[in-house]
Amino acid sequence: MISEAMVAVIFILCPLIYVCSAETYSFDRLSPDQNLCSLIIRPAGYACSEHTILTDDGYLLALQRVSSSKIGNLRQNPRPPVLLQHGLFMGGDAWFLNSPEESLGFILADRGFDVWVGNVRGTRWSHGHVSLSLKDKDFWDWSWQELALHDFAAMLRYIKAVTSTKIFVVGHSQGTIMSLAAFTQPNIAEMVEAAALLSPISYLEHINSKFVLRMVNMHLDQMILAMGIHQVNFRSDWGVNLVDSICDGHLDCNDLLTSITGKNCCFNNSRVDFYLEYEPHPSSAKNIRHLFQMIRKGTFSKYDYGVVKNLMQYGQLKPPVFNLGNIPESLPLWMAYGGDDALADLTDVKHTLKELQSTPELLYLENYGHIDFIISVHAKEDIYNHMISFFNSREKSSSLK
Ligand SMILES: *[C@@H]1O[C@H](CO)[C@@H](O)[C@H](O)[C@H]1NC(C)=O
Repeated sequence: MISEAMVAVIFILCPLIYVCSAETYSFDRLSPDQNLCSLIIRPAGYACSEHTILTDDGYLLALQRVSSSKIGNLRQNPRPPVLLQHGLFMGGDAWFLNSPEESLGFILADRGFDVWVGNVRGTRWSHGHVSLSLKDKDFWDWSWQELALHDFAAMLRYIKAVTSTKIFVVGHSQGTIMSLAAFTQPNIAEMVEAAALLSPISYLEHINSKFVLRMVNMHLDQMILAMGIHQVNFRSDWGVNLVDSICDGHLDCNDLLTSITGKNCCFNNSRVDFYLEYEPHPSSAKNIRHLFQMIRKGTFSKYDYGVVKNLMQYGQLKPPVFNLGNIPESLPLWMAYGGDDALADLTDVKHTLKELQSTPELLYLENYGHIDFIISVHAKEDIYNHMISFFNSREKSSSLK
């Protein structure tokens, strides 16, 4: 069993070391051809192109477009675009971490979909800005609210402009927070054909991850920001060594993940080294603070700056809420959620469902934890085939319109 002290050490010290150490992990040192297409997707035998898009607040994001050579010219009609939106501390690689037979990104491409891979600001694949560098604290001045209203919106607009088609969306975890917040905005929802949400989250009040609750109770979010730390990065040289040494011999990494995400049914322990080559990606301290606010207050609202700054920022004392009732009833939703998911708790999922106008199609997987939804070795049969049937049925009904 992992000791809680060890876990606290990883989460408290890694960000600190990143700031203190001269030998920091830097994306600027990556050569430009070290991208998601060249590192993971093309080597697996799939066509992949890199696209750079600009958000309306100046961030440069990478989007990858993936297609399968296996289907060749057999298919006359191109299938619709699907945007894959990853979760917190992950990047677009999240959809390609297992074998082509097991990973959603490859599976959708093999079924003929036009697969687009989103990467939010601050991740290894999307770390550019028109005027700021990663070292500027302003570069990290955002939470999932900006990811939803700027990054996600910019991705959809770009795909819409290239394909002239409405887009299917798949989100996981924070990718579902972004999706649900964005769908409350009519100008974003209108670009979407249908959405599949894995581990859907809007409310976090009943989160039962002991590990996360401990950090919330320690007020780690306030501590980090008070210390002037803006980027949360577990990949500092020192942090990598620490995670490696914890995973190597003393305990298996599944235990560390379990204490954060809930027990994952179908984790492949032999692939941990490969996962760690890419995960975790950085995020911002402000984003962690926003998520912790949701846990403390039970709200699905914009970032809370405190009453004075809220007044200046929003013209009201409390941050405006994202009203799930504003998501159009006509937007088809499909959700898969797990009984062992310590982050997307059943009570909170029910709360989300109650506020929606529409009645999403639901898939409940009793033994699934939070990470299983993307890296379970059985996800294809357990989840993805059902999701693809949902997309197929929406595709049929929209072509009949
Ligand atoms: C688990 O990962 C190993 C190493 O990549 C791989 O050889 C094996 O096929 C994987 N097992 C399953 C069930 O996917």
